[in-house]
Amino acid sequence: MVVSLLLVAAVALLVVQRYFKRQRRPPGARPLPGPRGLPFIGRVHDIPSKESWVKFYEWSKTYGPIYQMEIFGTVHVWISSEEVAHDLLSKRATIYSDRPMIPNLPDNRTSGDYLALLGRTDTWKSQRKLCNHLMHASTLASLHSYPTLERDRFLYLMCQDPSRYLEWIEQFTSRTVSRLCWGTARPAQVLRHTTFGLLETISPSGALPNVMSFLRHVPAAISPWKKKESARHALEDRLFHANVGFVAQSLAENRARPSFIRTFLETKNSPDERVRARWGEQAEAMHVVGLMAIAGALTIGSPIQSFLLAMCHYPEWQRKLQDEIDGVLEGRCPQWEDREELPLLRAVVKEVIRWRPPVPTGIPHAIEKDDVYNGYFIPAGATIHALEWGITRDESRYPDAEAFNPGRWIDPSFPTYREPLTQYPNLSGFSQFGFGRRTCQGVPIVEQDLFLTMGGMAWAFDIRKKRDPATGAEIPVHWNDYTPLLIAKPAWFPFDAVPRSPEKVGRMREMYVAAREQPGAGQNVDMDISQFRADLGDQIYFDDVADAGGGLGSHN
Ligand code: HEM
Repeated sequence: MVVSLLLVAAVALLVVQRYFKRQRRPPGARPLPGPRGLPFIGRVHDIPSKESWVKFYEWSKTYGPIYQMEIFGTVHVWISSEEVAHDLLSKRATIYSDRPMIPNLPDNRTSGDYLALLGRTDTWKSQRKLCNHLMHASTLASLHSYPTLERDRFLYLMCQDPSRYLEWIEQFTSRTVSRLCWGTARPAQVLRHTTFGLLETISPSGALPNVMSFLRHVPAAISPWKKKESARHALEDRLFHANVGFVAQSLAENRARPSFIRTFLETKNSPDERVRARWGEQAEAMHVVGLMAIAGALTIGSPIQSFLLAMCHYPEWQRKLQDEIDGVLEGRCPQWEDREELPLLRAVVKEVIRWRPPVPTGIPHAIEKDDVYNGYFIPAGATIHALEWGITRDESRYPDAEAFNPGRWIDPSFPTYREPLTQYPNLSGFSQFGFGRRTCQGVPIVEQDLFLTMGGMAWAFDIRKKRDPATGAEIPVHWNDYTPLLIAKPAWFPFDAVPRSPEKVGRMREMYVAAREQPGAGQNVDMDISQFRADLGDQIYFDDVADAGGGLGSHN
């Protein structure tokens, strides 16, 4: 009896909902096409937990470059065309620049902790300005050479043991961004730990409440997801406070290395009151810089890993890349200053990102007002996804889109070719960094990190599939087995990274030694993270363990 009543009530609710939805639609406007779903749950049952972006892309082939589906009562709009994404997210940015609420982090739109997840609020506007200001100041100083120093360390570790490439890449990305944010690599160890927890918290296929949104109503005392997130958040907060405290103390003692936080604190110390007032409070800057560190630690490893995958499958492109580097630099390892002369290396960087988008489903926007596009109705409150995987597979722009082909950026017969080659290709304005007012603010870091690591690896190693020692047969490497969270990375695969000559091994060792942070006068005091180490134990890695393999002692 009760069940029947509930069923009747649910059906009645559905009918009423449908009626009001139809009432809202302006005369003549049609609903977007899309797969029809089951009542209430929509299409949640046939979204695969792995590589969901491939399924969303398949639907775009049936329903077109913009379609919609419902999941637990929310309208989700999927866009697989760069042109449509620009039409809506850029040209109509006034109403398409909000962010949806994340069920497992329900205050994401308002809390001010994570700029990239904030709604279109005043806090977001002021944080975005501060982020721009800090990035700009550091970009003018070539990111203080931190990416180069860390790249040199990374190459040496890769040379020691390429099978641990995941570890070396994560160390590279987190240490580089840590130095950029706080002038020291020490926090990287804890940052990795807190950041990967956050990725689970916010990913649509991560914590369960993001899949079944009604679970967000489970009280904190009995919700395992809320407990986990609040412990993670508390640790992150402690880390960010300690990092800012370290920079402030170093600045007071006149030994602070360049960093985003140092730039902020120096502005705060300006004698000009207007300058002091412009960038807001220290707590705000702590969060903005914290988010920049999180973004850097989470994302950049993806294309570095995909580069290794591409080199295993496309040895001919590795050879061409090595020919460019060897020909132009006559044996030297690529440096950031060489970028104008190495268009193929820049093309490889861009093609890796196109071939295997690091954020394949995009970071969703939310629409604030009802809208009509080409006769289709898009309701206020809908979640709008620029499906980066689909956008990079548009055959009219990317012929033979499944193939890894850096040539498409530097050969005039392709639609993506652009001159002058001293400047193009580059990552600025690339669809893979989002649209409109919410575009990624970290492109200068991505560009430099990827140019140096990919160029460095091509200079140093022949990367290739392993061979079975008994049979001589190649050991297969997967083609597209990626992790399912918001930032997708290839599953571990075996490969050889064979140094291209004994001289290069010697050179890598020299570069490693030269890149170690040189303690100068008053500079040999680094941040003390012993309390974090004591609390987290083997949940965090130890740089000195990693470096002991090379017999060169501690590196942090
Ligand atoms: C391969 C690396 C990266 C990729 C593929 C990437 C991609 C993206 C994408 C797709 C968005 C969402 C854009 C939109 O909503 O339309 C975004 C936002 C953002 N990214 Fe990145 N990103 C990368 C690295 C970084 C780094 C290193 C930083 C460090 C500063 C960063 C900072 C940000 C910020 C602050 C936002 C939020 C902007 C906003 O919501 O207003 N990203 N990124």
